[in-house]
Amino acid sequence: MIGEGFRLFPVQASTFAEKLDRLYFFLVGMSGFFAGLIIILVITFAVVYRRRADRAPEKTRPSLGLELIWTVIPLILVMVVFLWSADLFLDQSIPPQGAEDVYVVGKQWMWKAQHSNGRREINELHVPVGRAVKITATSQDVIHSFYIPAFRVKQDAVPGQYRTMWFQATKPGEYHLFCAEYCGTDHSKMIGRIIAMQDTAYQNWLGGYTDETPVQAGEKLFVQFDCANCHESGRRQRCPNLGGLYGTTVALTGGGTALFDEAYIRESILDPKAKIAAGYEPVMPTFRGQVTEEQMLALIAYIKSLSPNVAATSTEGARRPQSSAPGKKE
Ligand code: CUA
Repeated sequence: MIGEGFRLFPVQASTFAEKLDRLYFFLVGMSGFFAGLIIILVITFAVVYRRRADRAPEKTRPSLGLELIWTVIPLILVMVVFLWSADLFLDQSIPPQGAEDVYVVGKQWMWKAQHSNGRREINELHVPVGRAVKITATSQDVIHSFYIPAFRVKQDAVPGQYRTMWFQATKPGEYHLFCAEYCGTDHSKMIGRIIAMQDTAYQNWLGGYTDETPVQAGEKLFVQFDCANCHESGRRQRCPNLGGLYGTTVALTGGGTALFDEAYIRESILDPKAKIAAGYEPVMPTFRGQVTEEQMLALIAYIKSLSPNVAATSTEGARRPQSSAPGKKE
């Protein structure tokens, strides 16, 4: 925890911590064992087989058995390490269903976070203990890296991309948050606190707050940027209805398909002519330079929240802020 004296390893405060440490200690132990063995053998052989006047050098003969031993044993050891770490890596890569959503934007030189009910934080992140939290991270300028040593998780925040990571805190407390990618002059000051709280305390902290959710903010932006004009069913519809598209595969003009995900939505807003949905004309203008990273996340949250019914039955769905419940999950 912050404020504790020097310690070689950060506290173990997430479900990953102990598992990763076990692998790490195994690697250190194995390396230490072989380093020691090699040093001992080098010294022993140097003494035993040193050049002496009364002994001529012997001719060495290859030994198949010996070569098999020093090939097969290391092979087994590295395969154990490979499978072990691949298992942990996959576990860390796939956020569980129902994880608490948090959006993070890195910028020179601070971390901005927003919870799904709209509450924002800078250089601080409150998380519940005992529940999975999924971080979706991006950057507004250069590559940063969102790093929580006590949870043993780290993910790059890359401009133009959405990277996710997840964790489940196990102990209430305050932990370090670092930027782990050199990002300019004040990289070393791009630090913060992770505050892990019991779930009820977290709910209280989160609940005493009324700001618009990312979905609501996105809905407003959808109107503000006049997206609804072309994207809603009706007489003037010239672009695909976006309801229910998230997570599906869409056909493109000129053949091919694209997965309708965060990256696709982003690309379509900034570079609408890159991948045009089949059956539509390339009429959409670019919004490059007009949408900030936070607005982009809000628009994505809104588009993700659109169910086919809401968007298809209402030509003015985007003008009714109450059509999405606060804190609604996509
Ligand atoms: Cu941001 Cu280093």
